[in-house]
Amino acid sequence: MTLYINLAGIFMLALVASILAMFFNKSRPVAKFLLVFLTAILVVAVITVLYFRRPMEFEKHYVNTALPLETLLLNKRLQQAGMYLGAPPRNANQLDSHAYRHVFNSITPENDLKLGHLLDIETLEYDFTQADALVTEAIKRNIRVRGHALVWGKLSDIFNAPDLDLWLSHFPELERTAKLTHLLDLHITSVLNHYQGKILEWDVVNEPLEMFGRGQLEKNVFYRHLGEEYIERAFFKAKAIDPELQLYLNEQFFNYTDQRAEAFYQLVMSLLNKGVPIDGIGLQGHMVFHLATPEETAAYVKRFTSLGLKVQITEFEARLRLFSDAQDPYQAQGEYYRDVMRICYEIDGFDGITFWGVDDSISWLDDMSWLFPKPNEAYLLDAQQRAKPGLILIDQWLKAN
Ligand code: XIL
Repeated sequence: MTLYINLAGIFMLALVASILAMFFNKSRPVAKFLLVFLTAILVVAVITVLYFRRPMEFEKHYVNTALPLETLLLNKRLQQAGMYLGAPPRNANQLDSHAYRHVFNSITPENDLKLGHLLDIETLEYDFTQADALVTEAIKRNIRVRGHALVWGKLSDIFNAPDLDLWLSHFPELERTAKLTHLLDLHITSVLNHYQGKILEWDVVNEPLEMFGRGQLEKNVFYRHLGEEYIERAFFKAKAIDPELQLYLNEQFFNYTDQRAEAFYQLVMSLLNKGVPIDGIGLQGHMVFHLATPEETAAYVKRFTSLGLKVQITEFEARLRLFSDAQDPYQAQGEYYRDVMRICYEIDGFDGITFWGVDDSISWLDDMSWLFPKPNEAYLLDAQQRAKPGLILIDQWLKAN
């Protein structure tokens, strides 16, 4: 984010400089060129923003045929097929709903297991109350729990996850590496010991790559103070505490075919070559600006399963507006979900698909609608918890299986 703000600042300065140069008649041809060039960029930027923000609304044809969730046998069918379909509850009460009784059989607590939610960074004391309530309720209901996430350096300042740079700034520079290393070890040890036997799989490191670009490691707070070894340190530590756990490396991609996706594959290979105990790869699957086709997704999944790793789609969602060209966007979205699930579950080693929302009434995308203008409506249930086409299609596919 800071990078874009800086770039916008430089752009504005250049624009002002070229206007001033024009005004004072100095190096006029260069200034003229710059002015035209920068104005063109500005126009393109404005058009792009307007395009992505244009209002949209679609008819909900599915409502006429929507089945009550309790008539679907999804939960049973998933269990029989040994498949997982997950969602991210925000608290234990949400599990007492038709969605979890009849549909989902796996959860990833959306935020409750993150460092900033468990640990008071000032006193280094843990409070597991809220997370425990959710995990206990899930286990009681025979729902699988994914642990998310032990180490997450991205945007920790914005999401107050917590702001580790701010915390470190209270210590002398020479002590910061030791402080952060201690925190990393303490956190992994405390959380894994607390949930031993209850949560059997964890996203150990989340989003190690820069979000955009060619797949460089992000220079997040852990990287800057511990070096790139922070990744392997986290995995080795987790393994030492409980060798039975399934340890995942989780990352977001905007497509599975570019250099960044290749760089991630190379990163995984190099970690495996060093003996780092990675059991699985999590592909987050936030389709927010672009849809990766089911075939592309499956091809990327296979690259990892053929190394003997498990793969899951861990935070799936495809914004409704990405289907705006279809005659019935809700139907097209549903077909996309069914197709991704079907093609991925054909792959040995594929171990689950989790949506990053239960229903369209609560979504982190809507919470950030300045970046993700509505309609997002990315989930399998609508805001009234009615089954959307995706859910019916998945149910039908499992039934025919
Ligand atoms: C998001 C949650 O959904 C929000 O409620 C929270 O404010 C910020 O984090 N990638 C991840 C998830 O790995 O943990 C993020 O979840 C979404 C992006």
